Amino acid sequence: MSTTYLDNKAREILRNNDLGDYTVPTHGLYPYQWNWDSAFAAIGFATFDLDRAWIELKTLMSGQWDSGMVPHIIFHEDDEGYFPGPGVWQTNQTPATSGITQPPVAAIFARTCFDVDPERGKPYLKEMFPKLLKWHRWFSDHRCESGAVAITHPWESGRDNAPDWDDAMANVDISDVGEYQRRDTAHIDADMRPSKIDYDRYLSLLYSSRDTAWDETLIRTNSAFRVADPGMTFILLRANRDLRDLGLALGESVEEIDTWIEQLEIGAATLWNDALGSYDSLDLLTGKFSNSISNASFFCWLAGIENEQMLALLREVLDGVKYGVPSHPASSNKFNAKRYWRGPTWIMSNTLVGMGLEKQGHTQLGDEIRKSSRQLIEQSGFHEYFDPIEGTGAGGADFTWTAAVWLGWINARKTESTNTNRTS
Ligand code: GLC
Repeated sequence: MSTTYLDNKAREILRNNDLGDYTVPTHGLYPYQWNWDSAFAAIGFATFDLDRAWIELKTLMSGQWDSGMVPHIIFHEDDEGYFPGPGVWQTNQTPATSGITQPPVAAIFARTCFDVDPERGKPYLKEMFPKLLKWHRWFSDHRCESGAVAITHPWESGRDNAPDWDDAMANVDISDVGEYQRRDTAHIDADMRPSKIDYDRYLSLLYSSRDTAWDETLIRTNSAFRVADPGMTFILLRANRDLRDLGLALGESVEEIDTWIEQLEIGAATLWNDALGSYDSLDLLTGKFSNSISNASFFCWLAGIENEQMLALLREVLDGVKYGVPSHPASSNKFNAKRYWRGPTWIMSNTLVGMGLEKQGHTQLGDEIRKSSRQLIEQSGFHEYFDPIEGTGAGGADFTWTAAVWLGWINARKTESTNTNRTS
């Protein structure tokens, strides 16, 4: 398949998933605006329609709560095909949203968009900067009690079903969950999706946070699940570094951001599990590590953190599969090549690993990940995720973030020359 064909196909996917001023991750399975999916979409749009890229980020920020939190889903229009929808979350927001957040990659990709054309980006950035700042402050105020970033629900990590959460989720009581009807398994093979017991626990956590009327202080004291996540921590650290640079470009004071960066550097170090030889998730309720290596452990370079052992570990994990980076190592007894976040390779995660490696000067490893990401798309198309051994596509098809990172990272080139001014 030629590169031009794939470029065109990727643009077509973004256009087809575009509902005007936001994209859906894929039609059917995910019919709303998802937080980090949208931020990834922006780097795809930025390669051929820069204004549309900024609009994507702007619409994402339109869902921001007064507290500063930017929700993981914005339900712009109701859709019966998704569960749990706005009626379940009951967050009392306009637009309707979920009650939890997702990895804050928006500032990272706002910076990507800004760098394409700073003059054109400035008016958008001026509007967005205070909002991003407020969101990052919310993280610092409500989620960084251990130094690292805590999540209150596995869905916040963006790695919904990762083995990282297994032990912590085993403590979640599901006796009051009752009957409900999942919609995801109507779209996708159940073997590729989380199991019923996982889903019961997701809902139990949702209901218990809802019972607090989404009060962060009460959620922190009452929740049965609070885990410090290396993925969120590394992403927020990098996002703060980018936000700092964006602030400087606007002539803003960045002292507050500097303190967040310092705190997160210390926090990230608390997630080093020496026995495992990896960054790892830490259950803040029990004080125990998950003892689980994931692709998010390898976001350390994205955060600007160097670690020799992580380089060696990445080599080992890549050698265990044909198309890395697997979301969980093939050597683990929990590895499953097809099930959601328990083995498959996610190309947007590869982008975060690869961008970090390249930035830190580990170009060979970065190239290797870029190459296998390219092969997966060439062989199997723009799927949600991929079997890391066979290379087959899994989950949803024609997926926004896979198309976006093809344009924005895997095959990025001639960004400026292909960009046209938007006239409408
Ligand atoms: C799944 C993924 C999550 C993503 C969402 C929409 O829930 O785990 O990371 O944002 O789908 O693509």
